[in-house]
Amino acid sequence: MKVDVLLGLQWGDEGKGKIVDVLTPGYDIIARFQGGPNAGHTLEFQGQKYVLRSIPSGIFQGDKINIIGNGVVLDPTLFKEEVEALEKSGHDLTKRLYISRKAHLILPTHRLLDAAYEAQKGSSKIGTTGKGIGPTYTDKVSRNGLRIGDIEYNFEEKYKKAIARHEQLLKQMNYDYDLAPLEKSFFEGIKTIQRFKLIDSDHFINKELNIKKTVLAEGAQGTMLDIDFGSYPYVTSSNTISAGACTGLGVAPSKIGEVYGIFKAYCTRVGSGPFPTELFDETGQKMRDIGREYGSVTGRPRRCGWIDLVALRYAIMIDGVTQLIMMKSDVLDSFESIKACVAYKIDGVETADFPFEIEDNVEPVYIELPGWQTDMTKMQSENEFPEEFNAYLSFLEEFLLVNIKIVSVGPDREQTIIRYSEEN
Ligand code: GDP
Ligand code: IMO
Ligand code: MG
Repeated sequence: MKVDVLLGLQWGDEGKGKIVDVLTPGYDIIARFQGGPNAGHTLEFQGQKYVLRSIPSGIFQGDKINIIGNGVVLDPTLFKEEVEALEKSGHDLTKRLYISRKAHLILPTHRLLDAAYEAQKGSSKIGTTGKGIGPTYTDKVSRNGLRIGDIEYNFEEKYKKAIARHEQLLKQMNYDYDLAPLEKSFFEGIKTIQRFKLIDSDHFINKELNIKKTVLAEGAQGTMLDIDFGSYPYVTSSNTISAGACTGLGVAPSKIGEVYGIFKAYCTRVGSGPFPTELFDETGQKMRDIGREYGSVTGRPRRCGWIDLVALRYAIMIDGVTQLIMMKSDVLDSFESIKACVAYKIDGVETADFPFEIEDNVEPVYIELPGWQTDMTKMQSENEFPEEFNAYLSFLEEFLLVNIKIVSVGPDREQTIIRYSEEN
């Protein structure tokens, strides 16, 4: 069998967690392939709300196997918190959650270094989630990282060596810190990790595929935050694109099946960095209020703006998206008209190709479509869609050249409409 990939096409928070949960009944295994606790994936069902950071979003559906893949960076302290919160609400994970030995560990000093580097950058800071993501991936690439598998052999020694190196760096930056409480919770977290099955996930996943098991690879962040193709340097430190599923799980490109690309009917971003269609007016505030656009991990207000089809088309190209999923269209239910950016004007010249870098000289070119002005949150089928909404979908599909297979009209699992008319 093949591995289907589900990922965000914008700047994260597209609603990946919700859709992974919805699609999970169709798969045997759900595997996170990159990122770490910088992610916050929100799921809502039966009146309950859960936010997952490192644990895959398939954890709530029956006895499916969930894997934290080799491309992920795991923070023991936050992992322990996440596990305990789920156990408290009655979810036993031990038999269903496996962790790759090759996943890298976020050490307490990685988080301190993240904060120190941001402080050093001053007004040009990235606006990271402060979870130590950049420094952990830096250590991975510079061949200094510690992996989950290291817990099993001489861990204290390897840990001390890594910490000593980090402390040197922190000292050079005159960064004040108190390591002792962080270390205490780190080692408690290591004990929590040891309660789970540590696996060679590369072998495991490929063997399961050979016996016809189905796998859904869950992405974190979004394509515009990808280390290679995002709005560099205002990006995260991993490959969030579909190719990241190959390196983050150990599956060959020939084993990739469907690529589900998720986007919001508008656009949001947290942290610093370019955002050509950002709105600073009451329309942007309306999106933020109705869409509850506040970070699920940091609580930071998310920047809001119109959908950017130039960036979206670029993301679809890089990811090889085969099916689109549109989220949060209900947030626009009351809007009289809706804008979509179809080109950028750069120094007076119009282009529909995503440029090397988005700078302040990029002016979005919009087209305006009539809003549907109908409450869609209780709709059950595409047959109920208003005419203007269908026209919006057709316009997007014609521009993006990929079908929109699912429309999400609210945060709950049930508020999800599959478009069967797209099955031909
Ligand atoms: P993720 O990181 O991509 O999983 O997305 P987040 O969970 O960070 O952010 C998406 C937010 O939108 C969450 O609060 C979801 O509960 C919510 N959400 C998801 N789909 C919809 C939808 O169709 N409509 C509305 N109004 N909210 C949604
Ligand atoms: P999910 O999976 C939105 C952003 C941060 C910052 C940049 C780098 O929930 O969609 P990092 O801590 O990764 O070094 O921060 O990336 N960022 C996200 N934005 N959703 C996310 O994850 C994000 N993860 C990181 O705000 O701008
Ligand atoms: Mg999120």
